[in-house]
Amino acid sequence: MNTHEQIRKYLDEEGIVERSTEEVDEIINRDLPGFPERFDRVAEDYESHIISPSELYDLTATRLNGMTVYDYFKSRSRKGVEWTLRNIIGLNPGEENRVLDVGCGTGLESVFLAEMFRQWEAKGIDVSGKMVEAARARATKRNVTNTEFSVADRDEVDFKDEFDLLLCLHSINEGHYFFDEASLNHVLVRRLERFRTALRDGGKVALTVPIFDPTNFAEGYLDYQKDRMSYILEAAGFNDTSTDFFQIKKPGFDMNYLFLSGVAN
Ligand SMILES: C[S@@+](CC[C@H](N)C(=O)[O-])C[C@H]1O[C@@H](n2cnc3c(N)ncnc32)[C@H](O)[C@@H]1O
Repeated sequence: MNTHEQIRKYLDEEGIVERSTEEVDEIINRDLPGFPERFDRVAEDYESHIISPSELYDLTATRLNGMTVYDYFKSRSRKGVEWTLRNIIGLNPGEENRVLDVGCGTGLESVFLAEMFRQWEAKGIDVSGKMVEAARARATKRNVTNTEFSVADRDEVDFKDEFDLLLCLHSINEGHYFFDEASLNHVLVRRLERFRTALRDGGKVALTVPIFDPTNFAEGYLDYQKDRMSYILEAAGFNDTSTDFFQIKKPGFDMNYLFLSGVAN
């Protein structure tokens, strides 16, 4: 089986099959009555910075038909998940990697990588205890023993020269979506410097970063965002940077993001 087939098989087995927003809403409304209203209230409080990310994500880890609600949400972007996993493997990481997945969520990516590369050690951290429980449950269910998941804040962990690959997928901006760009740039450089410290020299970082586009992708906007993120990676101590764009446009669901990588210099 080639890599792409392995990814597809794994995602099918984990219930991350392509779903529309309508299908996901229908399942949640039917099987978890009251959840959508509760989620909307919590999301609103989160966006107003009244509650912390862990409260929002604890709620999305609610189980539904053997999955988490988060994974149902994620199934709307199944093609993006496939693309991201292919990109990570395309970085040609070495044979015995120690991987750190920051903001690992339900562990979908870490568990896949640890299952595919049994000689790797994957460590996932997340600020939400319930997401960490979901990640552990996934590893246990799949009998993947080369993973370890713990509750930790990305800005408080203190790793030094410990990892060969650091992933931070849809998690580096989390909690700061409403910062102005200059403040966000500052936060991103500081955070990436921390990631750089966690990596050995020559280690690689892989990020996915959403783009909220106020200009509806006016000419030059995407290039500007790519240049901006490359510059931020370089300022934090990475070279050989790459930036790729992915877009999903479905009825009721739009997602634009960059896959970024760099080598710790
Ligand atoms: C959008 S989810 C992404 C999860 C997973 N990486 C993925 O791609 O599906 C963002 C994750 O970041 C976590 N998170 C938010 N703030 C964090 C922090 N300060 N430290 C660690 N994790 C954090 C959330 O709990 C959540 O699981």
